[in-house]
Amino acid sequence: MAEKKKFYIETFGCQMNVHDSEKAGYLLSSIGYEAGSSPEESDLVILNTCSVREKAAQKVFARIRELNARSKKSFGQRKIFGVMGCVAQAEAEQIFEKAPPVRIVLGPRSISKLPELVDQINKGFPRAIDVRRDQDPDFLQLDPLHRNSPYLAYITIIEGCNKFCTYCIVPFTRGRERSRPAASVLAEAISLAKAGYKEVHLLGQNVNSYRDELTYGRQNKPGEHFAALLRTVAIRSGLPRIKFTTSFPRDFCDAIVDVMDEFDNLCNWVHLPVQSGSNRILKLMKRYYTVEEYLRKVERIKRSKRDIALTGDIIVGFPGESDEDFKQTLALVKEVEYDGLYMFKYSPRPYTKAAMMPDDVSPEVKSERFAALEQVQTEVQKKRYQRYLGRTLEVLVEGRAAKGQGQLTGHSTCHRVVNFYGEESLIGSLIDVKITELHRNSLFGEMVSGRLRDTLRSSPAGASG
Ligand code: SAH
Ligand code: SF4
Ligand code: F3S
Repeated sequence: MAEKKKFYIETFGCQMNVHDSEKAGYLLSSIGYEAGSSPEESDLVILNTCSVREKAAQKVFARIRELNARSKKSFGQRKIFGVMGCVAQAEAEQIFEKAPPVRIVLGPRSISKLPELVDQINKGFPRAIDVRRDQDPDFLQLDPLHRNSPYLAYITIIEGCNKFCTYCIVPFTRGRERSRPAASVLAEAISLAKAGYKEVHLLGQNVNSYRDELTYGRQNKPGEHFAALLRTVAIRSGLPRIKFTTSFPRDFCDAIVDVMDEFDNLCNWVHLPVQSGSNRILKLMKRYYTVEEYLRKVERIKRSKRDIALTGDIIVGFPGESDEDFKQTLALVKEVEYDGLYMFKYSPRPYTKAAMMPDDVSPEVKSERFAALEQVQTEVQKKRYQRYLGRTLEVLVEGRAAKGQGQLTGHSTCHRVVNFYGEESLIGSLIDVKITELHRNSLFGEMVSGRLRDTLRSSPAGASG
C-alpha cells in the first residue's frame, strides 16, 4: 500500500485560528492525508495566519521563505505550501506574487473548500484559491470530530464581526457576524462531554453578540441571548468546565454574571478588552462605550459571589493618543486590577478607518507607553495574585511545563497558569492544587493529595478559584 501523504499546519493568531486548524486537519484526514510531526517530513505545509497587526502578517512571508529554503536543501524537492487564515483573506492573489512557493490560498470563510483545492493541485493545477466574501453555508456546521487535545475543546458559537472598530481588520477578514443555532452548539457540547472532555471554550470575536432568535425570541437586549445559551450549555451539556471568549464590553450584560453566579461549571474568568481608558480615544476607536459604562460592568463582575478573574486588551499609541489620554489608561488599569492584560502597540491595518488617520504617535513614544503600562500591570498583578496564596484552585492538567523538570502545567478555572510537581499520568485530569508561590505570570503550588476531581463538581459555586 502506498504511504499516506502527510500534512503539517502551523497556526498563528487567536483561538479561532487554532480551532480552524483543527477543522482543516480533520478535512485533510478525510481525503487520506495524515498529520506529519514536522514541516520537513510533510508533503503539504499550511500556515494559518493572523493579520491583526502588521508584524504578525509579515512573519508569515519570512516563515515561508525559511521553510522553502530548508525543504529545497534537504530534499531537493518542492513541497506544496498553503496559506489560510486572515492574511489569506486580506491579501488573496497577492500572496502568490509575494511568496511564489505558495500554491494554495484559502480564506477563513472557505475552510470547507480545502479538500477541493488540494485536489486541484494534486491534479496538476499550478495554483488554487478560495477567498469567498459571501457566507459559506457549510462553515459553521463543521465539527472537527478530531481535536488536538482529548480534554480541552473549542466550540465556535459566533463567527465574524459587525463592530468595525476603526483600527481593526477582523470584520474584513472574517466577514459579518453569524451565530450558530443553539441546538447545534449544545449537540457539540454534549458529544464532547460524552467523549470525556473536561473543558470547553465557547468561541467568537464577540461571544456576547450571539443571537438565536428562533430559540430565544426577538426582544432580548444585547448579551441576553448569550446568557441564555450559557445557561443551556451549563445545565444540559454535562461538561465540568465551560469558559468563553471574547466578550465585547458594550454587549456584556448583567444577565451573563447572573448565570455565572448560578452554575458551578461556568468558570471564574471573563476576558473583557477595554482598549483605552480615555473616552476621547474610545470614541475615535468607535467602541461605543465610555469608561464609566465599562466600569459599571466591571463592578457587576466584581460583585459576583465568586471570585471572577478579569483580563483585558489595551492598544497604546492609537492615532491622536496624548499623554493625558494615556494617563487615563494607566488609571483605569489600576482601578480595574486585571488578573492579566494583553498589550499592543497600535499598527495601521489595510481597509480600516484608522489607517486613514495619521499614525502620529512615534514608535519611541509607543514603546515608552508600552513599557509604562507593562510596569503598572506587573504591580497590579503582584497585588492581585496575593489572594491566591494558600488557596486551593482546581486545575485542568494540560501537559508538562516548558521549564522546571518534572513539573506539570495547566489552567485554573480563573484561567491562571498553574505549575506543580506531578506524574505525567495526571495530564487531562482536573485536580486541586494549593498555591504556595506567586510568579510574575503564573502560580506555583502543590497537588492536594487524593483530590482527583474527574467528575462534575459537587461543591457550591465560588468554593474554588
Ligand atoms: N474581538 C475582540 C478583539 C479581537 S483582536 C475585541 O473586540 O475585544 C485582539 C486584540 O488585538 C484587540 O483586542 C486589540 O487590542 C488588538 N488589535 C486589534 N487591531 C489592532 C491594531 N490595528 N493595532 C494594534 N492592536 C490591535
Ligand atoms: Fe475587531 Fe472591534 Fe470586532 Fe473586536 S469588536 S474583532 S476589535 S472590530
Ligand atoms: Fe488574527 Fe484573524 Fe484572529 S486577524 S486575531 S487570526 S480573527
